Amino acid sequence: MKKGNKQNKSATTKVIAADLPANAGYGANDPKGDDLARNTEDSVGEYLTTNQGVRINDNQNSLKAGDRGPTLLEDFILREKITHFDHERIPERVVHARGSAAHGYFQVYESMAEYTKANFLQDPSVKTPVFVRFSTVAGSRGSTDLARDVRGFAVKFYTQEGNYDLVGNNMPVFFIQDAIKFPDLIHAVKPEPHNEIPQAASAHDTFWDFISLMPESMHMIMWVMSDRAIPRSLRMMEGFGVHTFRFINERGKARFVKFHWKPLLGLHAVVWDEAQKISGKDPDFHRRDLWEAIENGDYPEWELGVQIVEEKDEHKFDFDLLDPTKIIPEEIVPVRRIGKMTLNRNPDNFFAETEQVAFHTGNIVAGIDFTNDPLLQGRLFSYLDTQLIRLGGPNFHEIPINRPIAALHNNQRDGFMRQTVNRGQTSYEPNSLRGGCPFQAGADMSGFTTHAERIDAQKIRARSASFFDHFSQATLFFKSQTEPEQNHIVRALRFELGKVETPHIRERMLFLLAQVDKTLANRVADGLGAKVPVKLDRPMNMSFPADADPKKFQPKRATQAIETSPRLSMVDNPNFPKDNIKTRKIAFLVADGFDDVAVSEMKRALLTAGAAVMTVAPRLGMLTGANGEQVKADLSFLTGTSVMFDAVYVPGGEASVVLLKKESESSNFLNEAYQHCKTIAASGAGVELLERTGIIRDSSGDGQEANPSSAQAGIITTREDDVAGIAASFVEGISQHRHWQREMTL
Ligand code: HEM
Repeated sequence: MKKGNKQNKSATTKVIAADLPANAGYGANDPKGDDLARNTEDSVGEYLTTNQGVRINDNQNSLKAGDRGPTLLEDFILREKITHFDHERIPERVVHARGSAAHGYFQVYESMAEYTKANFLQDPSVKTPVFVRFSTVAGSRGSTDLARDVRGFAVKFYTQEGNYDLVGNNMPVFFIQDAIKFPDLIHAVKPEPHNEIPQAASAHDTFWDFISLMPESMHMIMWVMSDRAIPRSLRMMEGFGVHTFRFINERGKARFVKFHWKPLLGLHAVVWDEAQKISGKDPDFHRRDLWEAIENGDYPEWELGVQIVEEKDEHKFDFDLLDPTKIIPEEIVPVRRIGKMTLNRNPDNFFAETEQVAFHTGNIVAGIDFTNDPLLQGRLFSYLDTQLIRLGGPNFHEIPINRPIAALHNNQRDGFMRQTVNRGQTSYEPNSLRGGCPFQAGADMSGFTTHAERIDAQKIRARSASFFDHFSQATLFFKSQTEPEQNHIVRALRFELGKVETPHIRERMLFLLAQVDKTLANRVADGLGAKVPVKLDRPMNMSFPADADPKKFQPKRATQAIETSPRLSMVDNPNFPKDNIKTRKIAFLVADGFDDVAVSEMKRALLTAGAAVMTVAPRLGMLTGANGEQVKADLSFLTGTSVMFDAVYVPGGEASVVLLKKESESSNFLNEAYQHCKTIAASGAGVELLERTGIIRDSSGDGQEANPSSAQAGIITTREDDVAGIAASFVEGISQHRHWQREMTL
């Protein structure tokens, strides 16, 4: 498909920056696009050549001694081609291997100079290019998008003063408090080493064994067992920097800051049954959704939010700001939205961009600084280290997607695959032979200076006692969920622990869950046919030094300033009113003889509200309506299923409904949509299809007499031909995303 915002690129294989017009191939005002254009090629109208530029005459046959004879070693064309192919793979990321990415830009709403001197947060007229990669954590590169997992949310800002990476997740806390536990966590969650089972799933013994011995993970466990771990779309999830960082202003004044990304499309999830089905029907569901939205010009947007805490307030909370298993509830420190990010261009090449991009928490710019969060401190080491092997040496900053748009000059030299041809005699500093160049920048010339934090400490392997509250915020999270969301957490835990084969691991987990919420633990225990143990045979917290007093390390519970935080819920979150259906996908179930008028009226209403409509029919090809109108079947019941859609509409047309009734898939489609609590509408004879599935009971009346409870729960019907009357209710129903009251009656 042609990209909306792209012009034709120059058809030259050897692209030299000077040959290209500014913005070649990319939209205006895209300095990173200009930069990437230096390395793009598209072969259009060109001869096939070797890597040495020699034109190839025969790409079908290798060079042989006779047409039935052996291949000759001399065949440099064959050797070059196969050798390159043999070396095409690089190691996948050790975590977050499965991902998809997009280009875009960020604009600040107003100058943040009072808080930070970061150049990209000063001028609302400046568009800073970004490249954003979303990912799952545990699965391999080819795993399903719909795994129950944390989603990575990594943003590279190509600022005029260097690259700034905000390498976050879609959950604001993490499993562990200290980086030294990260390899253990990842070894536990990845497929088990003896048989490499299961792929992209935490539902297995080693993960829960580790978690059951790590009470500090309980807050994160609540998030991962919630619907946050199965987003409807990457475009419909929040992002978080997780750690507390620092903002530093021009005067050197520092403040603590937590970063948030707030999606303008709201927060939505699928249900677990749906996630599992999508994993089979379309494992690329999220990747495809992101790609298609951008191709269609539905550019995803997030607002960047900050929670700012004065340094003097560092210790005023009932948790430690440096502890990555804690949030600052938004009710205590509100999130101020300071700018907007828009993703408006898909990558040209998955490998060159999405796979080779290297994010690093250590990539910061003047005006932003780290804190002593011990997880962040470990990350500062890990990313560059892992990328040295993943990308094959110390020059990966020269890979086009990684290189800054800011000028880059230093005395680093050589190494595998060095691209830059550094001129001159000197590669050291200070020097006199080159007039001292390149020279250091003063702080007033945007030279990076580290915040001069006062440290007066003993060198010690220890964890601060202020990190010992492992349960209060887990309880806060659970209590802040609506009833259906709590039910989903219970079911997720029953599923995950139900897959655990070792009884004592389940029991320990039930004990830990009881520390979060007794009802939660009892409900999970019921599903497992187990009892919550009253005490444990070994100390709850095993993560303490070998010769330490275990009592000292038992988790403590702090008093929370608030009992619930509605902003932790997805369903009832005041930050995300459910007031639109933009980019939601609606299926129209149709066959020959459909009611053309109803279809076009309903389509118009949905498109006007910003949704997308697709027809699903017994067969592919053109369909003819009752009045002779032709529509293309986008999908058949074999290629399209309910889990790909947010809602479904069955228009009337006697002949169409008769044909649909003959297809058992049409009933499956509707039943599944019903089970997954989606909005379902039908008009005219289409209502009969809903009756046949049992979704509505009453076949006499006019649809208003249909099951009254279902009428309130996103089932919208009219036996009249005029669909205008129900279109508004349909749109309203879809905006609610799901009708959980229906789930309760299942
Ligand atoms: C000590 C703790 C952690 C360590 C050692 C660690 C290490 C790593 C490593 C080695 C990678 C692969 C990078 C690559 O190959 O390019 C990675 C990727 C990633 N990590 Fe972490 N990580 C840690 C914690 C976290 C946390 C707390 C977050 C979220 C705030 C996070 C977010 C990410 C993301 C989003 C990616 C994927 C980046 C991409 O899209 O390329 N990590 N991490």
